Amino acid sequence: MDCYSIFCFSAFAFFLLFLLRPILKFFLSPNSNSNSSDNPTLPPGTLGWPYIGETFQLYSQNPNVFFASKQKRYGSIFKTHILGCPCVMTSSPEAAKFVLSRAHLFKPTFPASKERMLGKEAIFFHQGDYHAKLRKLVLRSFMPETIKNIVSDIETIATSSLQSWEGRSINTFQEMKSFTFNVALLSIFGKDEVMYREDLKRCYYILEKGYNSMPINLPGTLFHKSMKARKELAQILAKILSTRRQMKHDQKDLLGSFMGDKEGLTDDQIADNIIGVIFAARDTTASVLTWIVKYLGENPNVLDAVTQEQQSIMKRKEECGEDKALTWADTKKMPITCRVIQETLRVASILSFTFREAVEDVVYEGYLIPKGWKVLPLFRNIHHSPDIFPEPEKFDPSRFEVTPKPNTYMPFGNGTHACPGNELAKLEMLVLVHHLTTKYRWCTMGAKNGIQYGPFALPQNGLPIRLSLKI
Ligand code: HEM
Ligand SMILES: *[C@@H]1O[C@H](CO)[C@@H](O)[C@H](O)[C@H]1NC(C)=O
Ligand SMILES: *[C@@H]1O[C@H](CO)[C@@H](O)[C@H](O)[C@H]1NC(C)=O
Repeated sequence: MDCYSIFCFSAFAFFLLFLLRPILKFFLSPNSNSNSSDNPTLPPGTLGWPYIGETFQLYSQNPNVFFASKQKRYGSIFKTHILGCPCVMTSSPEAAKFVLSRAHLFKPTFPASKERMLGKEAIFFHQGDYHAKLRKLVLRSFMPETIKNIVSDIETIATSSLQSWEGRSINTFQEMKSFTFNVALLSIFGKDEVMYREDLKRCYYILEKGYNSMPINLPGTLFHKSMKARKELAQILAKILSTRRQMKHDQKDLLGSFMGDKEGLTDDQIADNIIGVIFAARDTTASVLTWIVKYLGENPNVLDAVTQEQQSIMKRKEECGEDKALTWADTKKMPITCRVIQETLRVASILSFTFREAVEDVVYEGYLIPKGWKVLPLFRNIHHSPDIFPEPEKFDPSRFEVTPKPNTYMPFGNGTHACPGNELAKLEMLVLVHHLTTKYRWCTMGAKNGIQYGPFALPQNGLPIRLSLKI
């Protein structure tokens, strides 16, 4: 068949399906509005086409429009069908809390391709004892007591990144990715492993291209290449592990924590979790930083306030004749900058939602969530609810002068799987913003207001800017 006949054929098939849709729907979708068979009932909503479900609608537009229109139509809890899975989505803080705090009823769930790519031993995919053990180790390496010691190393990475952007037009997101990657490696491997940086970077950049590709493992496909890069990464990690074993002194970084004798983790488990942490740490933090640059650029008053706050920290250090390097204590004196970060996390809500799967039939507020269904707390909808955050689309850091009510603000999730890296993320953002605002000015280039999705919301084209030294 040539292209044209394939086109005609698919148009015809589509047409047939369209005619048959009401009939198919009658047989295949449980009727949401009837209480006749079961009590409790499924939440309201539609399941869309069998198999394809409403995936097309979700991915063909800004996903937030999809969620918002569903919420408007059906309320704060509704059912739908994406990527072949029936699911329940919820935008109520109470329901989100219910789902996130009951780990025994709702387990983590990811597409199989992601599991293959990150490695099935990575923390995200687990629950119970193994999860608790990993979590303890990860939290230990990223808690304030530990990361306090690497503030000046993070600062070195920040200043050298900024220097390399001087006088150039840059893609903010790409450059921020490089910064957050280097900070992630520092927190995982300590300072010794700079020599592996380039190799790790090269492999990881190939690997990530496969994250969202079709999981077809044939020579030439993106997926195949990224699986190969995955193997090479594991080899580099094996080399690092064996060097460390010869050195035989304990280190406080994440790798040291994973390698502790009494933990008994295998090399594969360590490798999967290190790749997992890089994955969790890099693009998330880089996209938030990109949004911060955008919002600061659009809100001159906020930028002034942040710049003054940061300059006064710099001046105070100079006057006291203190060592110029930033300290943990300095980063605790940045309330205005902190609120800018909080508000950016709210408005941009880069992780719009998370996934869980019901491990048994669960009843919530009279609604049935059947075993095996996915459950999605919609963080973004909660963060953009006008009842919780008046004028939700407005960027206004001052709203965080008052602490939000519990479970209304969850940029780092909550409960058993809440982000263990949140302190590090905030720290590296503060350090970068300190140097950015005190030493540089920048202007945005090109189209100003587009947003791209994939997988995180990002300013169009990664926010191209031109950066120069302040005079
Ligand atoms: C601003 C940047 C970041 C944001 C917005 C963010 C957000 C989140 C959220 C919402 C979760 C929970 C997902 C769920 O419950 O399903 C999570 C989990 C996680 N994050 Fe972050 N994160 C960020 C940066 C980081 C960094 C820098 C690290 C590592 C240093 C990190 C490591 C992790 C890990 C390992 C998990 C999985 C925890 C578990 O399953 O127990 N994240 N993150
Ligand atoms: C289904 O049952 C619940 C409680 O039993 C009731 O509140 C609700 O109105 C019923 N829905 C319909 C569509 O009949
Ligand atoms: C997480 O949940 C607990 C218990 O419901 C609550 O006290 C806390 O405020 C929540 N955290 C956030 C960030 O909402």
